[in-house]
Amino acid sequence: MLQPPIGKKVFVEVPSTTANLGPGFDCLGAALDLKNIFSIKRINGNGERFELIMESTEGNHLRGGPENLFYRAAQRVWKEAQIEPFALEARVKLAVPPARGLGSSATAIVAGLVGANALIGNPLSKEKLLEFAIDIEGHPDNVVPSLIGGLCFTAKAASERWRIIRCDWDDSIKAVVAIPSLRLSTSEARRVMPKNVPISDAVINLGSLTLLLNGLRTGKEDLIAEGMHDRLHEPYRWKLIKGGLTVKEAAINAGAFGCAISGAGPSILALCKKDLGKRVSQAMVRAWESQGVASRAPLLNLQTTGSYWYPEK
Ligand code: HSE
Repeated sequence: MLQPPIGKKVFVEVPSTTANLGPGFDCLGAALDLKNIFSIKRINGNGERFELIMESTEGNHLRGGPENLFYRAAQRVWKEAQIEPFALEARVKLAVPPARGLGSSATAIVAGLVGANALIGNPLSKEKLLEFAIDIEGHPDNVVPSLIGGLCFTAKAASERWRIIRCDWDDSIKAVVAIPSLRLSTSEARRVMPKNVPISDAVINLGSLTLLLNGLRTGKEDLIAEGMHDRLHEPYRWKLIKGGLTVKEAAINAGAFGCAISGAGPSILALCKKDLGKRVSQAMVRAWESQGVASRAPLLNLQTTGSYWYPEK
């Protein structure tokens, strides 16, 4: 297999994701129609050179270089395809804000894998890219929906194999995601979690998950309302999110069926019918404002196509 010519360019579009959906800690995540667009080009230089250019105000703290997550993912593809690493430039139109619980780092991993594979003629299958993505991220609930779209349940089977189940999501259900100006890193949010949880909490989560998946499939509000509960991570993480519980209460009072921390936070996801979207969004923004936190709360659809690439036209 050959390296691409210098100057060869591809584009990759990658959706945001809301992971830990309700009781689905580290398993259940959905792709949402807010996306990052990466333009990726082979440039002069050796396999240590990675130039990152952010075409947005958010994300200016992100740096290129060989340790960058995007480039590490790209290197993984080339190693598997037995290609000598080469220098890359990535320009990013960033719409998924970093460190907000919307899968921003998953977009970098997925773009690195898909882009590096596309530049060398796509020798690796989507299954292989999924395996690498989960391995690099360490948990599957962002990278899987980011790569294949939709609502994805990813289970580690007793055989140690990852099994991905794409679940139904009734079109009447919309997501309002309140995104604050606050940032929270996943590593910090994982540090506050206990190593073990009471069995009663695990049982409640199993029941809630069944209710939620059936509610999302059928659009039945009462099932979603009872299913959007978590005892595995939220009890430990709400305290990291200033005003978070006030925002949750405001969303429910405004008519949302359920509300949860999006990913590791600090964004908050509310599920509701489309006609209530504006009311829920305004209530969440106002609630955060009352706590001294600026935010915005777009109404988002499920993104079902996942990531895709296209050549320079
Ligand atoms: N499942 C992950 C966590 C999602 O909660 O730590 C965050 O990326």
